[in-house]
Amino acid sequence: MDHDFVEREQDRLLRELTGFLAIPSISALPDHATDCRRAADWLVAEFRRLGFPVVELLEGRGHPVVWAESPRVEGRPTLLVYGHYDVQPVDPLDEWVSPPFQATVRDGRLYARGAVDDKGQVFTLLKAYEAVRDADGLPPVNIRFIIEGEEESGGHAIDELLTREPERTTADAVVVADMGYYAPGLPAVYTALRGICYAEIHCRTLQRDLHSGSYGGVAPNAIETLVRILAGLKDESGEIHVPRVYKSVVPPTREELKTWKKLPFDKQEFLEHEVTGKALTGRKDFSILERIWALPTLEIHGIRGGFTGEGAKTVIPAAAVAKVSLRLVPGNTYEATLAALGKAVRRLAPRWADVEVRPVHGSDPVQVDVSHPAFGVLDEAFEEVVGKRTVSVRAGGSIPVVAKLGQGGAPVLLTGIGLPDDGLHSPNEKVDLQQVWDGIRVFGRFFEKMGENGRG
Ligand code: BES
Ligand code: MN
Ligand code: MN
Repeated sequence: MDHDFVEREQDRLLRELTGFLAIPSISALPDHATDCRRAADWLVAEFRRLGFPVVELLEGRGHPVVWAESPRVEGRPTLLVYGHYDVQPVDPLDEWVSPPFQATVRDGRLYARGAVDDKGQVFTLLKAYEAVRDADGLPPVNIRFIIEGEEESGGHAIDELLTREPERTTADAVVVADMGYYAPGLPAVYTALRGICYAEIHCRTLQRDLHSGSYGGVAPNAIETLVRILAGLKDESGEIHVPRVYKSVVPPTREELKTWKKLPFDKQEFLEHEVTGKALTGRKDFSILERIWALPTLEIHGIRGGFTGEGAKTVIPAAAVAKVSLRLVPGNTYEATLAALGKAVRRLAPRWADVEVRPVHGSDPVQVDVSHPAFGVLDEAFEEVVGKRTVSVRAGGSIPVVAKLGQGGAPVLLTGIGLPDDGLHSPNEKVDLQQVWDGIRVFGRFFEKMGENGRG
């Protein structure tokens, strides 16, 4: 590996990353479809510049998938590297200290939407590749990149692609760098991701909005009806009232629970620094890590209905919608949870309400076995660069395509360079620049070591 690469090229790397982050590739918003394409094009140009002989934009129903194959080196293993170039919406915009698409350095941290989730991490892998090429532009190991543009919005392009062409997942190992360290200085690999069941609950109680004076007291209010239904889905203790959602859970093993107990965890620090609230909520009979990693949850993301503009309008709303999702853990399935949610909502709805549960997107939880030797190689790389091997943890978040990435039987290494306080999906998302520089070295060494293993 070119050991001075990072030090020598830092300014250029920062400029390039800033350019990538300047593209507002928000996959959920139709107005940003061309921006998503621009982000994909940015990657295509980058892969061409790096001398990848195969670079493709794979078109599907939504935003394109970028596919790139490094020059073939015979007798070496093949890695499949996954990432996503799309980002989350930026609202509330006025809470950003600097504009979300003008990456700004403050205190060694780079603030921008996508800084860590996931453009900054995709960039880190690209530059790791750049750093380990030899004088002829050949890498130490065969690498295929698959970078999608619909991860944040539950899109299907990559899923359909990998169903149609499963041979694309044939590899010796899959690397997914879309998460982070367990704590500063403590890198991680993930043994499970939660699944998700995202849906809208539509509630109608009247044919049209009404005057709240003339009819207030007798006419059924759609928002009131909806919030009572929502309140019935989860109680104050954090328990979800959706049939069978807990019964089907496969609890973590005793081994896992033991490892989690040993992890450093400062509740007060977590509350103040990451959660930023006054108290932690949820099921008190479980530890905090268990609540995030090993239990299903239900969250309300937004409620639409009635009058929310400036000033006052005295109205009884006829209709209301809530966006909700359940996070799913091993044992839960998307299909069963969606059906159960529909049942629960219909049971909670009073006779004056027409309710409907409309699915938005979903994926099953995944578990990965971290005993494959490739995990040992990743540990060696982390140890060499940051002085620590990885800890095995789970993630609360989801990456829908991960199950498909492992369909060819290759081990899936879920890891990354993020830090717990990066604020993914929040205003002022950031990446620690030292994490990027270290990450380039870690992944570079990982590529080299994987190549050496294949030869031996
Ligand atoms: N990178 C995250 C997933 C993640 C977050 C993994 C935290 C581990 C820890 C990913 O970009 C993400 O946000 N996924 C969405 C998927 C959803 C839209 C289907 C999520 O988890 O909400
Ligand atoms: Mn991500
Ligand atoms: Mn995300």
